[in-house]
Amino acid sequence: MNDEKIKEKIAEKVKNMPKSGIRKFFDLVIGMENVISLGVGEPDFVTPWNIREAIVYSLEKGYTMYTSNKGLEELREEISRSIERDYGVYYNPEDEIIVTVGVSEALDLATRAIINPNEKVIVIDPSYVAYKPCVELAHGKALVYSTNIENGFKVDVDELERIVDENTKAMIINYPNNPTGVTYTKKELEEIADFAVEHDLIIISDEVYDKLTYDSKHVPIASLNGIRDRVIYLNGFSKAYAMTGLRIGYACANKHIAEAMLKIHQYTMLCAPITSQFAAIEALKNGKNAVKEMKEEYRRRRNYVYRRLREIGFEVVKPEGAFYVYPRIGINGEKFAEELLKKKRVAVVPGNAFGSSYRDFIRISFASSIKELKEAFDRIEEFINEIKIEKTI
Ligand SMILES: Cc1ncc(COP(=O)(O)O)c(C=O)c1O
Repeated sequence: MNDEKIKEKIAEKVKNMPKSGIRKFFDLVIGMENVISLGVGEPDFVTPWNIREAIVYSLEKGYTMYTSNKGLEELREEISRSIERDYGVYYNPEDEIIVTVGVSEALDLATRAIINPNEKVIVIDPSYVAYKPCVELAHGKALVYSTNIENGFKVDVDELERIVDENTKAMIINYPNNPTGVTYTKKELEEIADFAVEHDLIIISDEVYDKLTYDSKHVPIASLNGIRDRVIYLNGFSKAYAMTGLRIGYACANKHIAEAMLKIHQYTMLCAPITSQFAAIEALKNGKNAVKEMKEEYRRRRNYVYRRLREIGFEVVKPEGAFYVYPRIGINGEKFAEELLKKKRVAVVPGNAFGSSYRDFIRISFASSIKELKEAFDRIEEFINEIKIEKTI
């Protein structure tokens, strides 16, 4: 078969799906030297030593087999305990918690478990790149609602009222948010929860950055009165514990939803890697101090980056969590990112990777040392001065 014939065999849905705007851009970075990358959403810290040690011990003891589909009982119990301790929400480790291959798999399970063909799911832009593809791969339709910088990227429930219809099944929320760093207060969450109840929606809540909240206490939407059973709570270890490559996360939900998700997980993934499950147990038992230290460092970087962006004069909302900031730069973000990379060897992500309404935004990740951030911002400033003079963009 020639290439054209082979391409015809690809499912339409997949063929028409754009590549991740982040990856597409970072293919350009590969092979370039002296690049400072403020691009990928990955901690620059190594997984804390006690967690790596737990991995080594587990291997030494010969733990290399499958686990229960749901995940190791000890891990599910630790997850249950930690959510109850931190947030006062109880999930039964027996039938309401599934250990997954990162939040990524949990998101895939959640969407596939609840969406029938052509049912709609509200996605709030700017949004993490996987939400729309996951909804579409589950044969649903993403109902995109775009927040704006003037409103601090917050959801306006009155505007949601205008787009929701009887074919809308669910909504995906994410806070602290990738790419804006914005989080929600309890009051704002209550408004979203009321809206979900009124329209009988399931809420898929991606709270993977909960532990990286800088100015307030994180409130899981599932902890609000009367809402828990319509929430699919997603969380994981990639970000707070610097465990991205270990691919471990979890989903918590009412037992009927969890059972549906587990069916898909059983057939497609079987179980999360046992080694990473041991790492996750150690993270939950003894990882608090390491998370605290990393969070303090991110907070310092957040303050530094925010100050530099303000000095440049970009319109910017101060991130309250995660390790991203999403300034409006006033010129085409794709062109800006390409030229910045070519001329100054600094990689940022064009804002439209997170929603088509954000052509003049970029996402900057501050998961890099202050030294690197300083050098990167010096170069960005130089670049801006040059393009102002040359009027090249
Ligand atoms: C909002 C959000 N959700 C999920 C993920 C994926 O997390 P995991 O590594 O647990 O699959 C990311 C990674 O960047 C993210 O930013």
